[in-house]
Amino acid sequence: MDSDRDKIIKTYADHVYPGKVEFYQKYDIVLVPEKRGGCKISDANGKTFYNCHCNGGVFNLGHRNKEVIKAVTQAMEIYDIGNHHLISKPKAHLAKMIADTMPEGLNQIVYGVSGGEAIDLAIKLARGVTGKEEIISAKGGYHGHTGFALATGDDKFKEMFKPVPAGFKQVRFNSLEEMEKAVCSNTAAVILETIPATLGIVTPDELYLKGVKEICEKNSSLLILDEVQTGFGRTGKLWGFENYEVEPDMVVMGKGMSGGIYPVSATVYHEKYKDFFQENPFLHISTYGGSEIGCFAAMKVVEISREKKFLDHVLSLGKFFRQQLEALGIKYPDLGLKVRGKGLMMGLEFKDEITALFLIKLFFDNGIYVVYAGNDPKVIQFLPVLNISEIEANDILKIIETSFKSMSGG
Ligand SMILES: Cc1ncc(COP(=O)(O)O)c(C=O)c1O
Repeated sequence: MDSDRDKIIKTYADHVYPGKVEFYQKYDIVLVPEKRGGCKISDANGKTFYNCHCNGGVFNLGHRNKEVIKAVTQAMEIYDIGNHHLISKPKAHLAKMIADTMPEGLNQIVYGVSGGEAIDLAIKLARGVTGKEEIISAKGGYHGHTGFALATGDDKFKEMFKPVPAGFKQVRFNSLEEMEKAVCSNTAAVILETIPATLGIVTPDELYLKGVKEICEKNSSLLILDEVQTGFGRTGKLWGFENYEVEPDMVVMGKGMSGGIYPVSATVYHEKYKDFFQENPFLHISTYGGSEIGCFAAMKVVEISREKKFLDHVLSLGKFFRQQLEALGIKYPDLGLKVRGKGLMMGLEFKDEITALFLIKLFFDNGIYVVYAGNDPKVIQFLPVLNISEIEANDILKIIETSFKSMSGG
């Protein structure tokens, strides 16, 4: 007889995503999360996993973070989604909180529901304020699957939906030479993830983002940094770009902003472009964008993530994981492990795709949930919960070592 879990899987396959079910069944990595809390999720069958992907940062503060839940529950006594046409106290307060964390002048905020929506707005705004068309993004980068966000991405996701909007061009990440050639007087904006996750957690060379900004300035183009994954403390700074001495013209945030509890995203832009919406206040509309309950979740997230103690913890755990993982790389040299990243935004590169895929399966069997980087499958994205304890970190490392050992033949 089918268990309740089997029934859920079947109903999901029948009515939601048959392809996903097939994929997970093929690799025997079916996970139906039920109980969740802190850095762990449990399958409906009782098996528990450390979540070391965190949905790209949605669960930065862990699953069902108590403080976020409290903030949202209290807000629900009084508030609801709110009315996007009207003036709103939570939207105003959150905007001020975010503006206070940004470089001078980056203090205008438009809310959205998802990362893709916030990226779309950033691109609309860049075209609107510059009156120019071209948008340049990184090959293998990822900004979402909505309209303009999709257009910044790779062909494999666009092919089926042609024609996609025109005026989008991609260049190699970390090549200033290619960027210099690509940006021209008709470039509205360059959009980049501060650390491209789907590309394999590739950290920018020290002077890359600064160099891109200079190229943008020379051409009166804007620099949009996508902090959907790097934001809210993931790299050990509140914003990933703070690691690279660069001040973008726009910042896009999502995922972790929700506290894992209520979806909300935002596009932050420089006050020099304020006139655009002053003249056209109803040019961009999102009914649920910055819903008031979501604002309370995000206010709590900002409050927690901007604390020095919190950011220091991310840095120290990032350092600890890196040291330990590098040591394991030396102990199991046949895996060809290279560790990269910033803070707790880490990429584990293995000698080839097959090794990474087998390890994902071994991690899964041994109780760690991770995924590979879509555009470089030999890299496992390693994104633990940011407030993870040292005991939990050690436990995760033990599981990693057990898995490395079996992969290396025991
Ligand atoms: C860097 C980055 N930008 C944008 C997005 C799109 O966010 P959403 O899925 O909320 O639309 C994602 C989603 O994975 C992302 O990783």
